Amino acid sequence: MEIDVCRVEELPPSTVRIVPAGQVTIGVYNIDGELYAVEDRCSHDDGPLVEGDWEPDEGVVVCPRHGARFDIRTGRALTLPAFLPVETFPVRVEDGVVKVTV
Ligand code: FES
Repeated sequence: MEIDVCRVEELPPSTVRIVPAGQVTIGVYNIDGELYAVEDRCSHDDGPLVEGDWEPDEGVVVCPRHGARFDIRTGRALTLPAFLPVETFPVRVEDGVVKVTV
């Protein structure tokens, strides 16, 4: 299913939008003008990942529970205690609207 996130101008570089998408919640990030979406669920212990801090320059999100770091572009775990990737989703812009397929 595809969901509308927001207008593209409402998600400028170095910002994130957290949106419900059916059974899951996702964070949609603008890193240097490119859009990426990850699930709000840490692969370590299901923590609320996208509510944590993130580093726009690095494209890294930090889990608020135990501090694991993930590459937002790929979902790859960069540091322990997480070692599995988190779920990522395709993002596109159509008619000025950001859309994510979940
Ligand atoms: S739940 Fe994210 S690092 Fe533990």
